Amino acid sequence: MDTKIISLRSPHLILAGVNSLERLGDEAKAVEAKKALLVTDKGVVESGIGERVQALLKKEGIEIDIFNKVIPDPDIGCAEVCIEMAKSERYELILGVGGGSSMDIASVASVMSTNPGRIQDYLGINLVKKPGIPTILIPTTAGTGAEVTPNAILTDVEAKLKKAIVSPYILPRVAIVDPLLSLSMPPPVTSSSGIDALTHAIESYTSNNATVLTDLFAKEAIMLIGRSLRTAVANGNNLQARYDMSIGSLYAGIALANAGVTAVHALAYPLGGQFNVAHGIANGLLLPYVMEFNVLGDIPKFAQIAQLLGEKVEPLPLLEQAHRAANTVKAIYKDLKIPQSLTELEVPKEAIPGMAKAAMNVTRLMGNNPREMAVEDVERIYEEAL
Ligand SMILES: [Fe+2]
Repeated sequence: MDTKIISLRSPHLILAGVNSLERLGDEAKAVEAKKALLVTDKGVVESGIGERVQALLKKEGIEIDIFNKVIPDPDIGCAEVCIEMAKSERYELILGVGGGSSMDIASVASVMSTNPGRIQDYLGINLVKKPGIPTILIPTTAGTGAEVTPNAILTDVEAKLKKAIVSPYILPRVAIVDPLLSLSMPPPVTSSSGIDALTHAIESYTSNNATVLTDLFAKEAIMLIGRSLRTAVANGNNLQARYDMSIGSLYAGIALANAGVTAVHALAYPLGGQFNVAHGIANGLLLPYVMEFNVLGDIPKFAQIAQLLGEKVEPLPLLEQAHRAANTVKAIYKDLKIPQSLTELEVPKEAIPGMAKAAMNVTRLMGNNPREMAVEDVERIYEEAL
């Protein structure tokens, strides 16, 4: 029997579904905002989504300024520029619209507007003392789950590492997940963000901190993403696939926020920090190899993953069912037509010992892994992915 205490940390309000964006004006009014800051990137502005968001706020008489300089995998410098703008005026609301990068920068700007000092003072767990300016986070991709997680990830360029502010104050007041916004996402972004979401779902399901509650969200997410990721990439206008991916990513985010991710994310961080490999691609590439290693740590759950991904596993013995899970994920990843090996990503074999050491240092995630991993195991997994 599971003896863990069930807890659920989430935004004040989650609004999800087709046209849920229409509720933005009401929610902005509810925090009595007169002036808001929209944190986003150039792509979101060009897609017209930025304008829609502005129009919805203007209709309620709310003034809006735009910060559109968020870059992919943003560094501390990018966050500092945004914080400067957030502090230059009196904003009662900060909106983060875009992928995980825009949402994370919005959350960082929110808490850094009310807490003294520098970003570096808050990198770590529960170091933020005061709530920030209220935020509304609106994903335009389906993958990061940043709209429902208490983590804001920033690249520390000098240390060549991804670091995180982990705090309940990073969670937004409102998360709005409207699948219609993901229709404009190009196939490579759909692939890499979608496989990130699948990684969140599988890792939080098998995390040592999983509870019966996070399992509900994680299992549903694995099923939704497993049945729709390929279609969302192959036909971006398929609304059912986009819906499944948006809701699946949201559920995976809720599971991750409360159960944590495991070794896949720990091993992916050095790839991002040292070789600029996109977060989703690094995760997707490593996922089946880490799963294969982890099988013995929780055989029934891995067997369940294979089933949730649509594999006909009965009447195979349970252990064989569990091994099918990694193969199924590998088959999905192959169909996404994104880099299939570390070599393709120009990561040399010689880099492995250094990356393995760096991954072992991500103790926050390694401690969640269902099977204990030694540095030699990590090196072997990187070698398998070469
Ligand atoms: Fe992730």
